Amino acid sequence: MCGIIGYYGQHPASKILIDGLKRLEYRGYDSSGLCLVEDNKLVCYKQAGPVTYLEGAIAHQDLKGHIGIAHTRWATHGAPNEINAHPHFDCHHQIAIVHNGIIENYQALKQLLSSEGHVFTSETDSEVLAHLIEKFYTGSLEEAVIKALALIEGSYGLVALHVNENKLVAARRSSPLVIGIGQGETFIASDVPAILNHTKDVVYLEDGDLAIIDEGGYQIKNLAGEPLDRRVEEVKLNIDQIEKKGYKHFMLKEIFEQPQSLVNVLAGRITNNQIKLSLNWHREAIERIIIAACGTSWHSALIGKYLLEEIVGLPVEVDYASEFRYRHPLVNNHDLFIAISQSGETADTLAALREAKNHGAQSLGIVNVVGSTVAREVDSGIYLHAGPEIGVASTKAFTAQITALLLLAFYWRQEMGYKIDESILSELRHLPAVVEKTLKANGQVIELARRFMNFEHFLYLGRGLNFPVALEGALKLKEISYIHAEGYPAAEIKHGPIALIDDNMPVVVLATKNDLSDKILSNIQEIKARGGQVIAIVDQDYEVVKKLADYLISVPPVHVWFSPVINVIPLQLLAYYIADAKGLDVDKPRNLAKSVTVE
Ligand code: M6R
Repeated sequence: MCGIIGYYGQHPASKILIDGLKRLEYRGYDSSGLCLVEDNKLVCYKQAGPVTYLEGAIAHQDLKGHIGIAHTRWATHGAPNEINAHPHFDCHHQIAIVHNGIIENYQALKQLLSSEGHVFTSETDSEVLAHLIEKFYTGSLEEAVIKALALIEGSYGLVALHVNENKLVAARRSSPLVIGIGQGETFIASDVPAILNHTKDVVYLEDGDLAIIDEGGYQIKNLAGEPLDRRVEEVKLNIDQIEKKGYKHFMLKEIFEQPQSLVNVLAGRITNNQIKLSLNWHREAIERIIIAACGTSWHSALIGKYLLEEIVGLPVEVDYASEFRYRHPLVNNHDLFIAISQSGETADTLAALREAKNHGAQSLGIVNVVGSTVAREVDSGIYLHAGPEIGVASTKAFTAQITALLLLAFYWRQEMGYKIDESILSELRHLPAVVEKTLKANGQVIELARRFMNFEHFLYLGRGLNFPVALEGALKLKEISYIHAEGYPAAEIKHGPIALIDDNMPVVVLATKNDLSDKILSNIQEIKARGGQVIAIVDQDYEVVKKLADYLISVPPVHVWFSPVINVIPLQLLAYYIADAKGLDVDKPRNLAKSVTVE
């Protein structure tokens, strides 16, 4: 969360910084700010609200500085207002910092620094960094940053500058930073999209790295000041992949990109009716699978449990990463720990992975962002190759994650000496085309969205593999339309939630044909008997449901293992069209950020 960009080069920095911040807004958009060095002075602007407000505030300023830092914030400590916006400063306005992460011991440090006479202006934890650097500054920003960081508990992606030094000093611990290498200019940012307009040559900082950016380019050192060698990588991303390309919102674009993202996740992984994955594992040693993730990725993990238990035949435990890391889990070297994360930077997922590895578990990552921290720390992984997901509400990553889990399950079964049915492999290969067909029927969803946009509560029900899909449908609706929605295993409503049902409670039921269809029909009947309005997601065999449900959304029929990929699509669309009809900012829902790099 929070986006950082820094620039050192020959061009005026302000436009580069603003453009970079706009590309980082998915990480937070409560407030933003920038700071340039001009004629040995810091020239700084801050605004509450999105980056366009900051852009407006500097529009008529003649900003010439060639060195600068900027930040877009997702508030953790302190209200999302102008005072708490970054950059933050020392007492004499000579040092400016932008920070992503959480300083856990900031209260103790603030007390210490205040007792020494430092005056704080914001409520943030980050401001202690500026004052600590000031405390240790004796003419070298680099040395002062090293000394300050020695006192910090918590996480940081930090970039600092000093009026009297032509350089940026950056450091990373558990919060990503990437250096971009241009022609006579150097960038530093929390994520590649911020600098992609300028360069594709990047260096990812590792935890414990310190970077000094100046007229000589960049140097990377450890926190003892010793030089380090880090590989320059070429980013494979193209700028048009991070544009809206005519869609009203990134979320809609990403929903419609799903046929292609599934093609990508499958590419090269099914040849001659064999699944090909390259995993660095000791398969025979594995007796149990543990999957940890957050949010939408946690829903994929639940689907993974159903799939892996049935197809591989090993017990699977699924945990919220935030719970796993603190519950003293019993993990050993007979466990395979799977971390699922679109961004590969989610703080809790990363901490859970480290915890599992410390206990000796083998690890595997299912990750979208190439080169992200989870991807770099796992023993082996399956990249989704779904392309950048910018809308805060995850869509194409979800269906790609399920597809990756299907690949893993089939691969594993194959490694155990079983053959995967050709009909199943054929369905897997055709999944992108079926998704395409499902998307073409979005007209039925638009109509329902208009009809239901003013309801205040929704229930989503599913059974088996479609129970996590119900959870995902409810999450999509609540996070972008702010309508209260709950997902339940359909049979569970009798144990409480059925009390909520009346004609003000639309109930979305995943009722596609499978072994549990009869049971779902009984659940629909129970809802109808209480006056509930049922929107049923059905496939071709819907005659019987048709008589019961009030509204139908039909999807193409598929084997039950593939049904979560297909069934979630109308739920993504329903959430999108409701939020859009309400006039909400779908890509930047309130209080949220795309990448949750704080716990
Ligand atoms: O990047 P990750 O997959 O680790 O992110 C996990 C969650 O933060 C994410 O899925 C979040 O729940 C989305 N807003 C869901 O749409």
